[in-house]
Amino acid sequence: MNFDFTGTPPENVYKLLVATIGPRPVAWVTTKDTDGTVNAAPFSFFNAMSGNPPVLAFGIGGRGPGDVKDTGGNIRRTGQFVVNLCSYDLREEMNITAIDFPRGIDELKEAGLTTAPSTRIDVPRIAEAPVAFECERLVIVDVGIDRAVVLGKVLAVYVRDDCVLDAERCYIDTPKLDLIGRLHGAGWYSRVTDRFELPRIALDQWPARKAERAAK
Ligand SMILES: Cc1cc2nc3c(=O)[nH]c(=O)nc-3n(C[C@H](O)[C@H](O)[C@H](O)COP(=O)(O)O)c2cc1C
Repeated sequence: MNFDFTGTPPENVYKLLVATIGPRPVAWVTTKDTDGTVNAAPFSFFNAMSGNPPVLAFGIGGRGPGDVKDTGGNIRRTGQFVVNLCSYDLREEMNITAIDFPRGIDELKEAGLTTAPSTRIDVPRIAEAPVAFECERLVIVDVGIDRAVVLGKVLAVYVRDDCVLDAERCYIDTPKLDLIGRLHGAGWYSRVTDRFELPRIALDQWPARKAERAAK
């Protein structure tokens, strides 16, 4: 079945996107308010967009015209943010930080979480999160009256010590991070416990592999 988005109500377009694009990693973004309060919120319209330079992107849907949630406003003002990643054991805390608290409320405190200073920017990371990317705003692309896509350049990354296998070679124990992703309808997530390996095929291996496939 084809769904033409012309004339499709936005809530149905959203459903079609999130029901099919997943699992989506969760960017658990910390920013600083004008009064210095640390703000935290999860965003699953998120991914890595470039390795060199290292660039992350996440999408913010607003609450009304000109308002791109506290996270967006803070990044517009300060140009800095941390993308923390969420492990399975922090799922409930992450969910608490998504509550529509009024501006100025410290979501991390509400969730019983703490912060640790970043190394390159003036916005702290979530101390309990296993990974945290310190980012500076590259550009904010306004894609609708109240929608914005934030592109951030990563200046540094924190990875919890017990998940670093070899610091010199930058080998990370990805399964141990136990990160979660968001899936289809509201309230659904996935873990990374169901993995498989699929090595890339070099061009010179292809004739033999093609013959193997034909013989199956
Ligand atoms: C797992 C999860 C993923 C979310 N992803 C997004 C998203 O991609 N974009 C968005 O605008 N809101 C998303 N939200 C909702 C925001 O987290 C929520 O509106 C939050 O209160 C915004 O906080 P802020 O106003 O402090 O920035 C998500 C919520 C959850 C629980």
